[in-house]
Amino acid sequence: MGKGYYISRHLATAAMVLAAIALLTIIALSVVYNREKSKNAAKLTNATTLPVPPTPKTSNEPWDKYRLPDTLSPEYYNVTLWPRLVKNAIGMYIFTGVSGVMFTCVKKTDLILIHSNKLNLTLFKGHHAKLTAQSGVTAPAIKTTWFQRETQYLVIQLEGKLKPGKSYWLYTEFTGELADDLEGFYRSEYTEDGEKKIIAITQMQGTYARKAFPCFDEPGMKAVFHITLIHDLEKTALSNSQEIKTENVIINGTQVARTIFGPTKKMSTYLIAFVVSDFRFISVKDKKGVLVRIWARKKAIDDGQGDYALKITQPILEFFEKYYNTSYPLSKSDQIALPDFNSGAMENWGLVTYRETALLYDSRTSANGNKQRILTVVSHELAHMWFGNLVTLKWWNDLWLNEGFASYVEYLGADYAEPTWNMKEQIILYDLQSAFAVDGLTSSHPLSRKEEEVNTPSEISEMFNTISYSKGAAVLKMLSEFLTEPVFAKGLGNYLKQFAFGSSVYTDLWDHLQKAVDQTPGMKLPHSVHEIMNRWILQMGFPVITIDTRTGNVSQKHFLLEPQAVVERKSEFNYEWFVPIKWMKKHQVQDQLWLLQKSDLHNPMKVSKNEWVLANLNMSGYFRVNYDLGNWERLISQLESDHQVIPVVNRAQILDDAFNLARASFINITLALRTTKYLLRERQYIPWEAALRNLNYFFQLFDRSEVYGAMQVYLKKQIKPLFEYFETISSNWTRVPSGHTDQFTQIISLSLACSTGVEGCRELTRSWFKKWMQNPHNNTIHPNLRSTVYCNAIAGGGAEEWNFGWQMFQKATVAAEAVKLRSALACTKVPWLLNRYLEYTMNPEKIRKQDATSTIGYIASNIIGQPLAWDFVRANWDYFFKMYGTGSFSFSRLISDITYRFCTPFELSQLKRFQKDNAETGFGSGTQALQQAIEKTTAKIKWLAENKEPVLQWFLSEAA
Ligand code: BES
Ligand code: ZN
Repeated sequence: MGKGYYISRHLATAAMVLAAIALLTIIALSVVYNREKSKNAAKLTNATTLPVPPTPKTSNEPWDKYRLPDTLSPEYYNVTLWPRLVKNAIGMYIFTGVSGVMFTCVKKTDLILIHSNKLNLTLFKGHHAKLTAQSGVTAPAIKTTWFQRETQYLVIQLEGKLKPGKSYWLYTEFTGELADDLEGFYRSEYTEDGEKKIIAITQMQGTYARKAFPCFDEPGMKAVFHITLIHDLEKTALSNSQEIKTENVIINGTQVARTIFGPTKKMSTYLIAFVVSDFRFISVKDKKGVLVRIWARKKAIDDGQGDYALKITQPILEFFEKYYNTSYPLSKSDQIALPDFNSGAMENWGLVTYRETALLYDSRTSANGNKQRILTVVSHELAHMWFGNLVTLKWWNDLWLNEGFASYVEYLGADYAEPTWNMKEQIILYDLQSAFAVDGLTSSHPLSRKEEEVNTPSEISEMFNTISYSKGAAVLKMLSEFLTEPVFAKGLGNYLKQFAFGSSVYTDLWDHLQKAVDQTPGMKLPHSVHEIMNRWILQMGFPVITIDTRTGNVSQKHFLLEPQAVVERKSEFNYEWFVPIKWMKKHQVQDQLWLLQKSDLHNPMKVSKNEWVLANLNMSGYFRVNYDLGNWERLISQLESDHQVIPVVNRAQILDDAFNLARASFINITLALRTTKYLLRERQYIPWEAALRNLNYFFQLFDRSEVYGAMQVYLKKQIKPLFEYFETISSNWTRVPSGHTDQFTQIISLSLACSTGVEGCRELTRSWFKKWMQNPHNNTIHPNLRSTVYCNAIAGGGAEEWNFGWQMFQKATVAAEAVKLRSALACTKVPWLLNRYLEYTMNPEKIRKQDATSTIGYIASNIIGQPLAWDFVRANWDYFFKMYGTGSFSFSRLISDITYRFCTPFELSQLKRFQKDNAETGFGSGTQALQQAIEKTTAKIKWLAENKEPVLQWFLSEAA
């Protein structure tokens, strides 16, 4: 009995039930909230006739707590959903559903709490659910049911108790809105061949599964899911597991199709996915029979835009099977590109969803940067299939381990699929250095949070931040490197074996890594994995290591971008770390050292006058390095005489460390500036990109001041050789350099040359654009160079160029091309065009909701656009808060983007005022971003006061 019985009974009744629900829907949807309200009101009035005391903030009722009690445990669900892809009689898109969950009682209780949000549940004898028991047991009757809006529960109080060890079946029928809100079960729209198409898709992470069907919506509450989707005959339905069959049925007089999916593995609710669309696919089967499919709009598939993803998906799966020492646990792996999608991609088990730009590559129009994005996103999401999906962290407080881990190993998977691209080096740009930038603020926070600190959906959203992703990746990379990769992989494999199909906490991984260390002959760590890692994950920030090569003294200090800032957050480790230091002494790599206290004498680091020390080789550690002045001088002269002696990653490190040490007043800014002098001879991407980011920071500090002119002259001098180099090797910009990262450097050379006014650059890019305007059907601009060319041409042009760009944007059928245009449109210097463009971000017909906040960000990075964007967001704050305030990345990005240029006391006061004015609405998932903005602006004001003059003098002397 059990499973089989319930499936067939439920299937047999599904048609009838769904028909009935359809009729009820229209009335019910509008009534639901009123009923909820009046129910709560009734409870209050019944409770007392005396004056009501204010409700205590910390109620002890279980339904007021965000975490589920530990009384019940789900085993499996049967879920049937029917999304309607046409509007109903009152102009709404809806879905209907029936769902049952078999759960076991773990502790005696007369209360069932199950998550349910924005669903309208059918009443059975006045209650929102039916409860039955398995044979031999009778289920207690339902006393009352209601919705607890704040905590998003359906609350079911019973007349009697559920019995430990016994299983029960909870059944619900419901309708929900298929809104275009990018959350839960939602709809996406696009136009194909002049026809509007609508598809139904999902995004459940973190707390949106409850918006699709009632469920125990916590990652640790794993269960098996039996999913059925009802849809039009000509549409295809997809879900996590493989479809078993699709049959035609008649419901309510309409012919529809019913697709039944095989049972999933035991999994978390946040990884569930459904899609109903008329998408097409391409596929391959691997040696073991795992089916890999790439799905997208018909036109995209016909154009071959899925081919690159198909080419890399299988090798990446193969890589992770080896790396994790565990077979891919499912029989298929679908990747699907969606026209409306909030984040970049989502690792639903077996059905990974992507933004179009993260999966589709068009060889004729996409840049190689777009290709690399696809490679890393696919690799990241597939890494989660094991780490995150097979073994899941029990609660969101450990999200950093899930996302940090995938953000680290995505480079390993990417490197395997594209071995010539030097992918492993790029982690220092995209994770290490970006983590440093926020982790050096006093408003940072430790990687690891206590379970009790993360409760509400907003708090869960806020966990998806740079610290979790990038610092997580950086400390795991460091761990893997000091353990060595074989030891790390061995511990990891054992961890996955022990917790497969279950959940864990971060210390479980440390335990397995420690075991692997203990089993490795000759491997010695100065402390246990736990002790070493505690210092990196339980305290915020990171150290700057100072090496005095005159004495061999090595010391550490908490690195703060604002040196006088008061650190309010206490650390049990006193802001000291156990630091593994890989290093070299002129030309030679030395044995790794550990710094285990505040300061220590390491005699080998004492060097004679013509040697230098370089520490944090290949940036394997998450720390910055400072030296005595003599050593800095020797490093700079090494860079100038023969920079190749210093590993390429460390050339980027020297630049980034020097600039940031200067920002934090550890060294003089002129010393940092001098590290850029060797760039005349640098041809590699990583150092140039690191330099560019620091120089961009300078640009936005100084582009409204007198320093700007002198700085431009210097930069022009530095970039010219690179520009000429690429002009030559690309035969006057007609060919693409063969090396993958050389293509990135070529782009830097063009964009910096144009922005500093290298002769011929602007004319060149504008003539390319003009040619395209004259012949819109034939864009001959190389895809790699398009972003730069479009931006330059639109910046130098007026309404005509802008309108042409806008037209091309609207016509674009390749998402990557649309992004290039969308960002270039923000480059115009014409205020009314920028203002009109800002208005477009509130109109989803013009700019998709998924793209609105990033478009404002592009506008804010333009010197003319910044104040306009700031005013615009403030003026429409309620709208933006309502639309994006509880989402994750996009909202905090919006805040940091519009305040990025702030560096004056006036701007700081505006920022503080903004904080005060909106204290009541709050800042949702952007709260941290706002604090960071205030802290960064404060630091910049101070720094500018002391450094503007020396910077000006230095540029003037160099420009002379
Ligand atoms: N699990 C996330 C997607 C996600 C992000 C869900 C935020 C809910 C809130 C996914 O694995 C992810 O990290 N995606 C990244 C891309 C990745 C390559 C870093 C993203 O969406 O930007
Ligand atoms: Zn991820």
